[in-house]
Amino acid sequence: MTGPVTYQVEDGIAVIMVENPPVNALSAAVRGGLKEAAERAGADPAVAGIVLGGRGSTFIAGADITEFGKPPVPPSLNEVIAALEACPKPVVAAIHGAALGGGLEVALGCDARIVGPRAQLGLPEVKLGILPGAGGTQRTPRLIGADKAVALAASGDKVSASDAVAMGLADALEEGDLIAAAKAKVRALAAAPLPPRLNVRDDRLTAPGAREAFEAAAQKLAKRAAEEPQVAAIVQSVRNAFEMPLEQGLAGERAFFTQLRDDPRSLALRHVFFAERAAAHIPGLPRGTQPRKVARVAVLGAGTMGGGISMAFANAGIPVTIIETETAALERGLKRIDGIYATSVKRGSLSAEAHAKRMGLIEGKVGLEAAAGADLVVEAVFEELELKKEIFGKLDSIAPGAILASNTSYLDINAMAAATSRPQDVLGMHFFSPANVMKLLEVVRAEKTSPEALATAVEIGKKLAKVPVVVGVCHGFVGNRMLARRTQQAERLLQEGATPAQVDKALTDFGFRMGPFAMGDLAGLDIGWRIRKATGGSAPVADALCEAGRLGQKTAKGYYDYPEGARAGVESAEVQGIIEGVSQKLGIQRREISQQEIAERLIYPMINEGARILEEGIAARPGDIDVVWLYGYNWPAWRGGPMHHADALGLAHVAERLAAYAAQTGDDSLKPAPLLSKLAAEGGSFAGLKAEAKAA
Ligand code: CAA
Ligand code: NAI
Repeated sequence: MTGPVTYQVEDGIAVIMVENPPVNALSAAVRGGLKEAAERAGADPAVAGIVLGGRGSTFIAGADITEFGKPPVPPSLNEVIAALEACPKPVVAAIHGAALGGGLEVALGCDARIVGPRAQLGLPEVKLGILPGAGGTQRTPRLIGADKAVALAASGDKVSASDAVAMGLADALEEGDLIAAAKAKVRALAAAPLPPRLNVRDDRLTAPGAREAFEAAAQKLAKRAAEEPQVAAIVQSVRNAFEMPLEQGLAGERAFFTQLRDDPRSLALRHVFFAERAAAHIPGLPRGTQPRKVARVAVLGAGTMGGGISMAFANAGIPVTIIETETAALERGLKRIDGIYATSVKRGSLSAEAHAKRMGLIEGKVGLEAAAGADLVVEAVFEELELKKEIFGKLDSIAPGAILASNTSYLDINAMAAATSRPQDVLGMHFFSPANVMKLLEVVRAEKTSPEALATAVEIGKKLAKVPVVVGVCHGFVGNRMLARRTQQAERLLQEGATPAQVDKALTDFGFRMGPFAMGDLAGLDIGWRIRKATGGSAPVADALCEAGRLGQKTAKGYYDYPEGARAGVESAEVQGIIEGVSQKLGIQRREISQQEIAERLIYPMINEGARILEEGIAARPGDIDVVWLYGYNWPAWRGGPMHHADALGLAHVAERLAAYAAQTGDDSLKPAPLLSKLAAEGGSFAGLKAEAKAA
């Protein structure tokens, strides 16, 4: 047999291997090959049974997601699994790597599953807005019990080889020759009558207490099921396993699958999957560019960000020297880090040993000279360009050969690079707060950054379990530059007649966890106030609140009141008075503003700025901007990110609304950006744009 499935008879056993790089996805050719191979082995008298495995690093990563939405090509995956179950001889899956989604479902059609130490089993469909579509919700309950099955499918988490054996998802863990072990299992099974397969077994479902255990597990998912249609479908489909025969259960599962697959929410989640992977490809990077080795890292500043960044390195097992200007600040910073770990230990999410080990990887030092010997320096001192330039100038000679990265939120990295004799080693590594938690890393490519330095920062980002996105230099890069547009509109909406609660509600209804004002109160309103004072900016409502001593939660009052340390704010009459005073002073006639206008004026200007960012080549792809918003600002994943959302709305609609708001308010910044206007006029979309090489 040729094609992505190979068939070889070894020692009287058919060894069927899937070979469809990069991840052995179940394309039409793989499905066809598997079905044919199963039937051939079944019919061949010289074959005692089947071993089914995968080449490369995965067993089978599941359905080919790129085929979703295209006309179906037979055989279906259900037909492939039925062919395996119809084989009169034993079939054993040899799982050396990831068996995910449809990959695990294929393995469930086998008589046994032998796993290697690097195997990972799971049903990640929930993360794509769908449910397992080829028997995962029917056979998994029959193998491991419906309570465990529903939890597995609803979490989408991968299970390690040893956990898979412990929960009964796999039969044995083989550290040595996996194929040999699978062959031995085939022989053992062939020596006796075959035990019933999962398509004819329901002892786990009829066992005493099984239904109750399932309903208890389902109850735990009730809140998510109310919010995420795929979770509701998973729960119901697993419940069906109790209530109907397998065939009917499979048909029900298929119906849920088709419905969910065609839902815009699943389309958005699939977009996220591919956008995240596309962001890892850096356009314009010469082939074969090798990242440099990073064994020692220095972080400058033990403040909010320096502390979080140091934790991110320590969490990844990379030793880090954290540097301050004086002992007191250093000790404060180290104590804060220790406290955050201690809280995790108390909560049970970190062991005491891991806490000690991570603290052991963080060394505190006073004085910049301690950066000597580092392969990478991440600067996280105060947001002042002159200070940063001075530090970069000194680092040039203190840490020769090191990559010099700034965590600046807004400032010009080209200017920092120019303060050194080796601008090719300088770039931005912009983490998001809290840096030990948030997954986004904007890697800022400055004018002279070398390909090696860029590749190294991206590689390090991945080691820290971050999602690195390469962006260009501009004020605020991608995320903060777009955020500024939203912040500006939020302030103006207050001046024109909205309340903080109405503005926040528009965004929480959209799917954000918090609105801009609740967020501002949490972060502290003085940060922006200080920046506005330093840069000559103004935000009359925000400024007036700060002048009245309302700095956010830390003063128990900001846009909201926080009586007796309450975490959720309550609306404040004083704030309403301040806002109305500002409107009056500015000569603005306040009016009722609809929720729709509020939402559109918060979201569409960000899309508009995203279009400018693309036009200027600051981001290479619209998907990169979406990834920034998903992982840096908690944009709701099921809305796919701002640029995907714009495509879903239709760019003509977005451009028309922006033009209308520009005319209504006299605010020219709301006029549609040239790229947006052009695409809208052509009936185009952001997704239709080609990656811009000049960007990254
Ligand atoms: N379909 C199509 N392409 C896929 C894919 C899939 N299921 N899984 C991965 N790929 C592609 C990626 O887009 C990427 O492509 P590029 O190199 O062009 O960017 C490439 O394979 C490598 O992927 P990763 O960068 O993610 O590789 P990794 O080694 O870091 O991780 C993996 C490997 C763990 C398998 C990971 O790719 C993964 O989790 N894949 C998705 C698994 C999944 O969701 N499966 C369920 C599919 S739905 C289903 O199966 C429904 C059903 O019931 C029938
Ligand atoms: P911070 O004020 O909490 O910490 C700064 C620390 O740097 C202080 O502890 C200070 O003592 C120290 N420091 C000052 N000069 C130094 C020097 N010469 N050498 C060593 N240490 C020095 O500030 P924060 O919030 O941690 O911000 C740091 C940088 O990170 C800024 O550039 C900021 O814009 C950026 N940033 C901040 C984010 C946030 O949410 N706070 C998010 C992303 C980036």
